[in-house]
Amino acid sequence: MRRLSHTAADAALTGREAGARREAAANRREAAGESVGSAIDRVARALKSARVHFGHGTDNARDEAAELVFFIAGLNHDLGSSAYSKRLSVRRAARIDALLARRIAERMPLPYLTHRSFFAGLELYVDERVLVPRSPIAELVMQRFQPWVDARRVRRVLDIGTGSGAIALACAMAFPKAKVDAVDVSAAALQVARRNLRRLKLEKRVRVLQSNYFDAVKGRRYDIIVSNPPYVGRAEMRRLPREYEHEPRIGLASGADGLDSVRAIFAGARRHLRSGGILVVEVGNTEDTLLRTFRRLPFVWPQIAMGGGGVFLLRARDLDEES
Ligand SMILES: C[S@@+](CC[C@H](N)C(=O)[O-])C[C@H]1O[C@@H](n2cnc3c(N)ncnc32)[C@H](O)[C@@H]1O
Repeated sequence: MRRLSHTAADAALTGREAGARREAAANRREAAGESVGSAIDRVARALKSARVHFGHGTDNARDEAAELVFFIAGLNHDLGSSAYSKRLSVRRAARIDALLARRIAERMPLPYLTHRSFFAGLELYVDERVLVPRSPIAELVMQRFQPWVDARRVRRVLDIGTGSGAIALACAMAFPKAKVDAVDVSAAALQVARRNLRRLKLEKRVRVLQSNYFDAVKGRRYDIIVSNPPYVGRAEMRRLPREYEHEPRIGLASGADGLDSVRAIFAGARRHLRSGGILVVEVGNTEDTLLRTFRRLPFVWPQIAMGGGGVFLLRARDLDEES
C-alpha cells in the first residue's frame, strides 16, 4: 500500500530507507486499524507539507482532511469529533491514500475527486464541467437577503452563470414561493445543474436555461438577480494556483480587467429588475477595479461572517444611471 510522507526527516533518508520506513508505518497502522481521527491528522499533515492550495470549499488543511476521510468512511459531518475514534478498514485506509495521492500529485480540487460539494446546507454533485461552488453569496441567501428585500414577496429570482446550480437551488430553498431561472452559457455546466435540480426535486420551481447573460429571459422581470460570474482579469489568470486549471476557464476568465461579465450584467439588469428589486453580484478581489470603474454607483457591500467578501448589492433604482 502506498503511503505519502513529506516530512523533513524522510527527505533526508535515502529512497530505500524512506520507503522501508513508510511501509513499516503503514503496517503498524494496518495492524492497529487506524482511527478516523489519526487518519485526519495524517492527511492534514500531508496536505500541509505538499503546500496544496485551499480554496475549493475549505480554507485549511484540517477541514479538507476531515472531508476526505469522512467521505471515504461514509460518515456524516454532523457527527463531528464523536466519529474520530471509529476504526477504518484496511480497504478504506487504502482509498484515503489513493485520493490523497491524486489531490497532491494532480493538484486536483478535492470536490472533483469526491464529486460532492456543500453549499448553503445543500449537498451538490460536482465535476470538472462546473466551478466548485464556494461563493460567499451562500450566506446572504440563507439570510434571505435581509434587510434588502421583503422575503415574503419574493416570487422571481434569476441566477446568472449558475454552474452547478448552487445559488439558484439555494434560492429556491430559501424562498419557497419563488420561481427561479438558472441560466448559463455552458451547455456542459447545465447538465450538472439539471442533475442537482432532479436530486433536490426542485424541477417545478427552478428552470435551467442556456443563455448568454439575459438572452433567454427577454421581457422577464425579477425581484432578485444574483450572480457569481467570471471575474478574473488576464494578469491574475496567469498567477492562479494549479488547482484552478482543473476548473472551466469560462467560469473564471472575464477579459483584461475581470469586469467584462459585470459590464454585461449592468447593461441588462435594470430592464430585468422589478422596481424594489435587487442585484447581488460577487466580484471577489476585482472589487477595487470595480470601484475605480463605476464611481457613481452606490454599491452596498454586505458583511459576510463566514469569510470571503467582494459581494456587492444594488437596488433597481441605483442602476438607472448606468443603464
Ligand atoms: C464563477 S462561475 C459560478 C458558478 C456558480 N454560480 C457558483 O457560484 O458556483 C461562473 C459561471 O458563469 C458562466 N458564464 C460565463 N460566461 C457566461 C455568459 N456569457 N452568460 C451566462 N453564463 C456565463 C460560466 O459557465 C460559469 O458556470
